[in-house]
Amino acid sequence: MNYSASSLCFLAFTLFLIPLCHCKTVQFIFGDSLSDVGNNIYLSRSLAQANLPWYGIDFGNGLPNGRFSNGRTVADIIGDEMGLPRPPAFLDPSLTEDVILENGVNYASGGGGILNQTGGYFIQRFGLYKQIQLFQGTQELIKAKIGKEKAKEFFEEARYVVALGSNDFINNYLMPVYADSWKYNDQTFVTYLMETLRDQLKLLYGMGARQLMVFGLGPMGCIPLQRVLSTSGDCQERTNNLALSFNKAGSKLLDGLATRLPNATYKFGDAYDVVADVISNPTKYGFNNSDSPCCSFGRIRPALTCIPASVLCKDRSKYVFWDEYHPSDKANELIANELIKKFGFLRVNQTGAPSPAPESDPNPTPAPAADPSPSPLISPSPN
Ligand SMILES: *[C@@H]1O[C@H](CO)[C@@H](O)[C@H](O)[C@H]1NC(C)=O
Ligand SMILES: *[C@@H]1O[C@H](CO)[C@@H](O)[C@H](O)[C@H]1NC(C)=O
Ligand SMILES: *[C@@H]1O[C@H](CO)[C@@H](O)[C@H](O)[C@H]1NC(C)=O
Ligand SMILES: *[C@@H]1O[C@H](CO)[C@@H](O)[C@H](O)[C@H]1NC(C)=O
Repeated sequence: MNYSASSLCFLAFTLFLIPLCHCKTVQFIFGDSLSDVGNNIYLSRSLAQANLPWYGIDFGNGLPNGRFSNGRTVADIIGDEMGLPRPPAFLDPSLTEDVILENGVNYASGGGGILNQTGGYFIQRFGLYKQIQLFQGTQELIKAKIGKEKAKEFFEEARYVVALGSNDFINNYLMPVYADSWKYNDQTFVTYLMETLRDQLKLLYGMGARQLMVFGLGPMGCIPLQRVLSTSGDCQERTNNLALSFNKAGSKLLDGLATRLPNATYKFGDAYDVVADVISNPTKYGFNNSDSPCCSFGRIRPALTCIPASVLCKDRSKYVFWDEYHPSDKANELIANELIKKFGFLRVNQTGAPSPAPESDPNPTPAPAADPSPSPLISPSPN
């Protein structure tokens, strides 16, 4: 694959000068547990894990694969819809330059946030700054492989997803063990998040990210974990209001960046309203339960994670939530469809690719590595 890609590039260079690189369009995904496809499995000390049954029960062979859901993530579904391959986890040992050129990379890590200090009690996770640092390493590898000019084109042509923020509230600001919970108020904390996110998106722009989607937050005060905080079992209104402020400010931030940064298509989208409606009227959307996790451990609530001893609901497609934090595959499908509607994008036309990778294969067979020496990226020092 790489051989033919290089010869194509060479041909294009000699005959037409531009474009240099008939590279495939791939995705680079930055996110938290809602987008993690296996990074945390390789962070052996991380307490945010989806490595036990019944995670992944409705995905591929049904074994845990690192996704914090029974099935697909929102980013999986949107990427499939766009006709793009599913990028493997950055820490997947089979990741090579050839795999990256064919599939992109997913840096998402359960417990990660926009802020470095978010999710500290999970011990190990990649926050967004760390994920961007890892992406920079990926760029160096690709430059060394195909040359600076072709790499520039490859990274400018790629699609970018940035989907973090929930943990900055749930596992930082709203927890009194974190300094941020007393240093800021609701308004100044959202401003702090936006200033940080703006710097991060500018860093990505400087590294060539031109087509970027940022996902907003859902009604996170209605996740089962938040509901058990009140005796009534109602949604936490303050938490929901924080998500709404985040979305409002995020939308403004992205509009501002898109007008100031040349050649950039930046889009912010959230599915807050539709998810809130699903939660209030589950049967209208074909769900039967919108307030408790499908995977639960008897009457013990919250059951922080889904484990082999947990009991599953009878029909997983009827539950909005898979565990205390995360939506089910069915709910993710609904969220993805809403975002697709909002972003209004078209399918990516892979003209340079002779045979597109099968969209539904979660574990693409990697091409054998040309270089037997281990990539410097496979053994990062997460912090
Ligand atoms: C956040 O973490 C990154 C590396 O993980 C580091 O380079 C950066 O200085 C940190 N930023 C802040 C504001 O602490
Ligand atoms: C924007 O695109 C034009 C035309 O392709 C190019 O000449 C210019 O260098 C680009 N600017 C940036 C900042 O990428
Ligand atoms: C879900 O289905 C059960 C059994 O059919 C029914 O008793 C219950 O009221 C339903 N719940 C909702 C929220 O529709
Ligand atoms: C994709 O590109 C091919 C060749 O240029 C064209 O025939 C086809 O209509 C395009 N498909 C879409 C969905 O744009």
